[in-house]
Amino acid sequence: MKRLILKTMMNFPFKPMNIEDVINNKINAIESYLNHILQEEDSVLDQAMRYIVFSGGKRFRPLLTLFSGDCFGVTQKVLMPFACALELIHNYSLVHDDLPSMDNDDFRRGKPSCHKVFGEDIALLAGDGLLTLAFEIMTRASVDANSLEKKNRVISLIGKAAGIRGMIGGQLLDISYSQEDMNKQKMYDLISKKTGALILAAVMAGAYLGDASPRHLSGIEDYGKSIGFAFQIRDDVLDSYEDHSGEKKRRPNMALLFGEDEAKRLIVHFVNRGKEALRKAVIDSEGLFALASKLLDEKQNENE
Ligand code: IPE
Ligand code: IPE
Ligand code: MG
Repeated sequence: MKRLILKTMMNFPFKPMNIEDVINNKINAIESYLNHILQEEDSVLDQAMRYIVFSGGKRFRPLLTLFSGDCFGVTQKVLMPFACALELIHNYSLVHDDLPSMDNDDFRRGKPSCHKVFGEDIALLAGDGLLTLAFEIMTRASVDANSLEKKNRVISLIGKAAGIRGMIGGQLLDISYSQEDMNKQKMYDLISKKTGALILAAVMAGAYLGDASPRHLSGIEDYGKSIGFAFQIRDDVLDSYEDHSGEKKRRPNMALLFGEDEAKRLIVHFVNRGKEALRKAVIDSEGLFALASKLLDEKQNENE
């Protein structure tokens, strides 16, 4: 008892959690939910799915959903299946993106890519497994009877964002265009689909599940679109530093189109635009501001 009192006194006064602690708590909750949904069996497909999902992703999309939902009064319990479904879809897209017929990338997050470890056939199926599991966990998500319509709307939103009018459509543009074909309009169209659609869906999911007003929804939408652009331009800048002498295929890249300096300026521009959209709609979310700011930090990609 004495020790407990002493320990309590030593922790007093409580230090308020800073935003990095809040983000880390959310990441831990995401990891544990992903662990829970990916642990049932141990076939080679389960192993391949776990291999990619637990290879060091930043969890940017599920964090967006959790912080966005927080703003509109949605509990973490309700948000989590949707947040993690987005992470599963994102991971499936990476497995397929790295395949020899796509980007032919031997490494992902600094580790051998899924097909390098398990073979192309298993990697293809593991991607399929992650995509279908995402929809299974969303349909299983428990929401109260009044929120069933919201749930269906969010599942449909995510399906559309991941599909041929969204991410898959963007991947088609990515493999169809060569750098020489590119102009500003094509590049923005490509980015808004390939990367932007899922990021936008991640923030909209949180808002739709909650009680966001039309003004909030439009603020969240502008924020999501802006940081989607910033996110891919930043990825392109980092990609432009990589050694491309190997077999990895060159794809359209913002830093190659505009030059590194202009690409970096655009990242700052879109991050600011995203923050401004939140301010205008009076969405006071330290988390959403902090996630946007992370896109300005080059060291964020150390695990890739
Ligand atoms: C990389 O996404 C691929 C893109 C869509 C640009 P992330 O940078 O979110 O990848 P991880 O999940 O953190 O590794
Ligand atoms: C990947 O884009 C986008 C999707 C998988 C939908 P990139 O090809 O530009 O990203 P990296 O460089 O492989 O992470
Ligand atoms: Mg790629």
